[in-house]
Amino acid sequence: MCGIVAYVGPKDAAPILLEGLARLEHRGYDSAGLVVSNKGLKMRKVKGRVGDLAAVVPARFKGTLGIGHTRWATHGAPSDANAHPHLSTDERVAVVHNGVIENADELRAKLEADGAVFVSETDTEVLAHLIARTVEESDSLEEAVRTALKRIVGTYGIAVIDARRPGEVVVARNGSPIVLGIGEKEMFAASDVAALVRYTRQVVHLEDGELAVLRADGFTTFGGDARETAKEPLTVDWEAGHYDTGGYEHYLLKEISEQPETVARTLRGRLDDRFHIAHLGGLNMDARESRSFRRVKIIGCGSAYYSGQIGAQLIEELARIPADAEPASEFRYRSPVVEPDTLYVAISQSGETYDTLAAVQELKRKGGRVLGIVNTVGSAIARECDGGVYLHAGPEVSVASTKAFTSTAVAFALLALHLGRVRDLSPADGRRICEGLRRLPRQIEEILALEPQIKELADKYADAASMMFVGRVRGYPVAREGAQKLKEISYVHAEAYPASELKHGPLALIGPETPTVAIVPDDELLDKNLTTLGEIRARGGRVLMVGHRTADPKLADDCVVVPRNEIELDPILLTIPLQLLAYHAAVALGRDVDKPRNLAKSVTVE
Ligand code: G6P
Repeated sequence: MCGIVAYVGPKDAAPILLEGLARLEHRGYDSAGLVVSNKGLKMRKVKGRVGDLAAVVPARFKGTLGIGHTRWATHGAPSDANAHPHLSTDERVAVVHNGVIENADELRAKLEADGAVFVSETDTEVLAHLIARTVEESDSLEEAVRTALKRIVGTYGIAVIDARRPGEVVVARNGSPIVLGIGEKEMFAASDVAALVRYTRQVVHLEDGELAVLRADGFTTFGGDARETAKEPLTVDWEAGHYDTGGYEHYLLKEISEQPETVARTLRGRLDDRFHIAHLGGLNMDARESRSFRRVKIIGCGSAYYSGQIGAQLIEELARIPADAEPASEFRYRSPVVEPDTLYVAISQSGETYDTLAAVQELKRKGGRVLGIVNTVGSAIARECDGGVYLHAGPEVSVASTKAFTSTAVAFALLALHLGRVRDLSPADGRRICEGLRRLPRQIEEILALEPQIKELADKYADAASMMFVGRVRGYPVAREGAQKLKEISYVHAEAYPASELKHGPLALIGPETPTVAIVPDDELLDKNLTTLGEIRARGGRVLMVGHRTADPKLADDCVVVPRNEIELDPILLTIPLQLLAYHAAVALGRDVDKPRNLAKSVTVE
């Protein structure tokens, strides 16, 4: 949550920090601030967006070292005072922080008793005051930070500067990501590579418990025991261009439109036409191991969880292994039974979602075998897992997930095909799925061509106070993701239900004012779904059907017809019209599509 950027080198820090913060704005955007060091610390911070901050930073804001932050409020409302950085009372130490300090109240009381004057309601400010006290007795800033952090209970990614040491930035990580960027006689740090790729592709991810000192000529990393650690830089293949809107009005529309290409990238080099199997080199499992699992348990948060539901369905159908998905945020708190013959799969676009990471760590502690389906190479979840599948979908910037969702579902189809073909799935069915997967990119293009029609439908339905999304079995996770997209970006209330459950309660909500989006593929449940539509229409409910054919006007007011694939793969295609529907509803309602209120792209707090 929130974004951090730090710079030390020969150039003016402020423009670099502002540019980096703009790249991180999707992580949090209720307030922003920066501080540079130049014969003392100079700070600007405001409630609002990075653009508002840029407007108050003077053109001459000299200083070649600095730290910046864009915030998603946890402790204290969005305000100028609560924005980061936070300074010590003597304005010697400045801190930016992501994460949550759980013992902040207790530390604050002690520090206040000791004369510290707090000016914000944040948990972070305790760190500034703590470090200001330890820095006096320490030989180095890193020692002062390390000593202060020993008193902290909670999670953090931090960057700290000291006015009296104008050549160095100290960063540390525990639960909130920090990545270093190595430049030419300059160093960067950020909470996400998005802020770095404009300047360098050489990065180093800090592990939990690690701390690093950055100077213009290099960096040193230390483990929790204060000993130096050796780190190999990694080259990231994401480019600055990935972070531009590329002529689209919003990142969301750009990312929806990229799906033919991103799905093709997830598939590239992974389908074997000879044996009709998928090759997933990163699984780190031989065929014997792949055969040994009796259950698959999938965890993830938000859209990642819904794509996991599609994944569970694919694994049960193609590999005939019992599989289910659960929100990682629930899984980690319920003391799950971890079984040796269960394969655990963690899903995360960012690879940094704290609830998912904590669930993976708990699984590992208990001896579970965990695969990651992750988009961000080298991210915390990817590093923590025993193996996995990278999506190669390129960075996803808009808060609402689209291309990562479809690529995750495709990755699950590959995993299910792989697990199926080393078990009972026939070569003929393997071939059917391989061919179906290859058809996806072109079929997605066909669906994207329906955008004018879907926009009209969005304009028609956007004024609904509430919408119902229903689907059966394969269609149910699609309905859930459709409802999720609509609420996230248009703020229209949306509920998703299995179509079969409608008559057991939610039918009471149906009436002319609550339209239903029904996912109705041409599968073995078609007739049952059409019966449900009849029940909705009989209560005066309006129906927008998304499926493979147009329905009798008695059953549906409107239909979006998508191309057919293999029934197991249809959910991937059925999702795409719902993304466009949510997008155009949000635009029609004048919403901030890429940065919806109250949300953030990666939730790196509990
Ligand atoms: C946040 C975002 C969601 C996203 C979820 C999981 O809640 O707002 O859009 O689906 O995190 O993110 P991940 O990076 O783990 O896939």
